[in-house]
Amino acid sequence: MIRSKNKLTLKAKREGYEARSAYKLIEINRKYPILKPNSRVLDIGCWPGSWLQVSSKIAKEVVGIDLKPVKIKIRNVKTYVMDANSDEVFNLGTFDTVISDIAPNTSGKIDLDQYKSYELSSRAFEIAKKLLKIHGNFLVKIFQGGESNLLLNEMKKCFAKVKITKPQASKKTSKEVYFIGLNKR
Ligand SMILES: C[S@@+](CC[C@H](N)C(=O)[O-])C[C@H]1O[C@@H](n2cnc3c(N)ncnc32)[C@H](O)[C@@H]1O
Repeated sequence: MIRSKNKLTLKAKREGYEARSAYKLIEINRKYPILKPNSRVLDIGCWPGSWLQVSSKIAKEVVGIDLKPVKIKIRNVKTYVMDANSDEVFNLGTFDTVISDIAPNTSGKIDLDQYKSYELSSRAFEIAKKLLKIHGNFLVKIFQGGESNLLLNEMKKCFAKVKITKPQASKKTSKEVYFIGLNKR
């Protein structure tokens, strides 16, 4: 029997997505419609590009940044090789939605990986705070545990509503969850 994780990988291949993570964004956006027509979206940590593929079907313009170069070309998507920790990110303009699946290279040491994930996801939030328009929405991945509640509490100060979700497309064994900030104050 094909295990479910392989099923999704095969489905992604069949449907032309760069990664199975596409289905996480599709699922989250079905529950909390953060991707809107006529909008400008920033994807932080976008390689190999499946979230770019999903968001570009709905939004007007998508900008993606990653440490690695993205190979796929999509008409309404611009990508940059850029470190989220650099100040260059603040020159990308303003956005209606910021999405971030950013993740560290995992070491296998749970505490260390959780901490690195907290740092990267907090940086994505810092970017979202500066570049999101009022009423904008923010989605970010984080490895739950450790400091993750600190980020959740900071997000609560900035958005009218904050939700936590773990899509079915996310592996049960993975510590990842997604925080969603709705309606930036
Ligand atoms: C899980 S992958 C993203 C997958 C993507 N959402 C997709 O569906 O194709 C996480 C990405 O975060 C990127 N990343 C990690 N640290 C980063 C940093 N400091 N600046 C930019 N990107 C970073 C990694 O290079 C990696 O490509």
